[in-house]
Amino acid sequence: MTRVALVTGAAGGIGRATVARLIDEGYAVTAYDRDGAVRDLDGPMVLPVVGDVRVREELDAAVAVTRERHGRLDAVVAGAAVVAGGSRLWETPVEQLDDLWAADARSVWLTAAATVPVMLAGPDPAGCRFVAVASAAGHRGLYGLTAYVAAKHAVVGIVRGLAADLAGTGTTAAAVSPGSTRTPMLTRTAELYDVPESDLAAAQLLGRLLDPDEVAAAVAFCCSVAGAAVNGSVVHADGGFR
Ligand SMILES: NC(=O)c1ccc[n+]([C@@H]2O[C@H](COP(=O)([O-])OP(=O)(O)OC[C@H]3O[C@@H](n4cnc5c(N)ncnc54)[C@H](O)[C@@H]3O)[C@@H](O)[C@H]2O)c1
Repeated sequence: MTRVALVTGAAGGIGRATVARLIDEGYAVTAYDRDGAVRDLDGPMVLPVVGDVRVREELDAAVAVTRERHGRLDAVVAGAAVVAGGSRLWETPVEQLDDLWAADARSVWLTAAATVPVMLAGPDPAGCRFVAVASAAGHRGLYGLTAYVAAKHAVVGIVRGLAADLAGTGTTAAAVSPGSTRTPMLTRTAELYDVPESDLAAAQLLGRLLDPDEVAAAVAFCCSVAGAAVNGSVVHADGGFR
């Protein structure tokens, strides 16, 4: 029996590493991203789909092709997000909050709404996992990033509520909150702060940036059948936050 996963944000740093990890572990993976670079992931165990996580119909289409090909869905990773910021709340247009709400939080809700019913109706609901990639910003305030902080706190809330809604089904929901990880988003964050990327590792006890595969390892554990105990809670894959 091949487990089947759908990963959003699959063209990016952590999403791409998660796809690679899950394939190594024997999954078939639908790799979903709005960036056409996701097509580079084409291979016997990968089904690349170009789509936007803000659009329910596009998520539904990705779920439909996954079902057509494999007849099941066992794990979903909601990893797609964007970062924006660089100014204090009262100097930031409220549209930034609207944008990040749609891209980083509402998108996780839509991803769950499009996928959870398919997992519950599949052959092994007790082995099914919904995993959202939150952030250290989902647990603390980071200056100049309040819209992102608010959206990521909401991601944690969605996971907690979803896990409660899933009670008794065996399907679980968890969040993984990465620290500063070497990806294009980190480059963008360093630009927003106008600091070298290496400075963003200062808050991490590990004393260095994380590699995307180190975060993907935590995500893959949460996706696994053995990951059932991590339910309605958060794995802090942040190298230890000061
Ligand atoms: N890199 C870090 O330091 C860090 C830290 C904490 C949390 N995170 C979180 O980890 C996750 C992955 O981030 P990353 O660092 O790999 O970033 P990334 O920018 O490398 O990848 C994000 C991917 O999401 C895709 N995406 C964005 N908006 C989308 C949309 N509307 N529809 C479809 N795809 C969309 C992008 O095209 C990109 O491929 C995100 O949720 C991010 O918030 C990252």
